[in-house]
Amino acid sequence: MSPSNQNRPVVLITGASGGFGMLTSLAFAKAGYKVLASMRNLSKKEKLLERAREKDVEANIKYIRLDVTKQSDVDSVIPGAIEHFGRIDVLVNNAGYAAGGFIEELPLEEWSQQFDTNFFGLIAVTKAILPHMRKRQHGTVINISSISGRMALPGLGPYSASKYAVEGFSEALRLEMLSYGVHVVLVEPGSYQTDIWSKGMDHFNADPESAYKEKNEALMKIVNHIAKTADNPEEVARLIVKVAQEDNPNLRYPIGKNVKTITRLKNLLPWRWLERAIMKKISPRK
Ligand SMILES: NC(=O)c1ccc[n+]([C@@H]2O[C@H](COP(=O)([O-])OP(=O)(O)OC[C@H]3O[C@@H](n4cnc5c(N)ncnc54)[C@H](OP(=O)(O)O)[C@@H]3O)[C@@H](O)[C@H]2O)c1
Repeated sequence: MSPSNQNRPVVLITGASGGFGMLTSLAFAKAGYKVLASMRNLSKKEKLLERAREKDVEANIKYIRLDVTKQSDVDSVIPGAIEHFGRIDVLVNNAGYAAGGFIEELPLEEWSQQFDTNFFGLIAVTKAILPHMRKRQHGTVINISSISGRMALPGLGPYSASKYAVEGFSEALRLEMLSYGVHVVLVEPGSYQTDIWSKGMDHFNADPESAYKEKNEALMKIVNHIAKTADNPEEVARLIVKVAQEDNPNLRYPIGKNVKTITRLKNLLPWRWLERAIMKKISPRK
């Protein structure tokens, strides 16, 4: 795609300071989009800025401060961006984190924070952009869900619940917006090497007296192993750009090692069989 400067499609990405958000910003910029890379802390823009310079796409990226949990940010940033750039063609709801820990041990506050970011923040940003897309009869909303939104795992209760909520929200919104030419899409990655594995996992190590101590340790080992061996996140960024360019995108785009197999097996196998396999994996090894 080589659109002229004026007719360039505009994409707004949340959580662009690192991980998928940063790589997706670069991939859209490379594809010729005008990229509004939003992040809650603009002092973190240096990494993206540096990578953009290396790829010679610096001019295609604008940096915007947006904390998705702050309604005042959403209320000023989204209308401001629409006015300034004239359009937003694609929204990538990417900002998020994973709160790890066992449900009995996680304070309610942890659940609220998880949902404020992964779910209510996503709704707030989407709602602010929808009137613009509906009036233009054009737009794509890409919600970054997860395999955890299709198959919940122990030790990731709040995260899985928030992603299941994103899945339900997206199914409903897709049906509401189809007749207005606005597409709603779910990208469902498996495990990828980003900073997600080092944030939000404090509860696994929190209490040395925990009744879940051994399980916490076993899960922490799994998380550390995933952090080192997971796939390269660039393929997710490439997929997101490809999806944005489709005239008639699907609802779901699962991506990553074993992700399609896991979702198929979940539909085919009796739950007890899956349960046994998962419990075996997280049982502390003696
Ligand atoms: N990596 C994976 O294996 C994986 C798999 C499936 C789905 N996902 C999903 O992919 C998305 C991106 O995660 P990632 O793996 O790229 O992790 P990451 O590297 O930790 O990036 C997460 C981004 O979200 C931002 N963020 C967090 N809270 C925010 C808020 N309140 N307002 C605005 N931005 C906020 C972070 O900003 P700060 O830098 O300020 O913290 C960061 O830029 C998440 O929705 C995650 O659930 C990841």
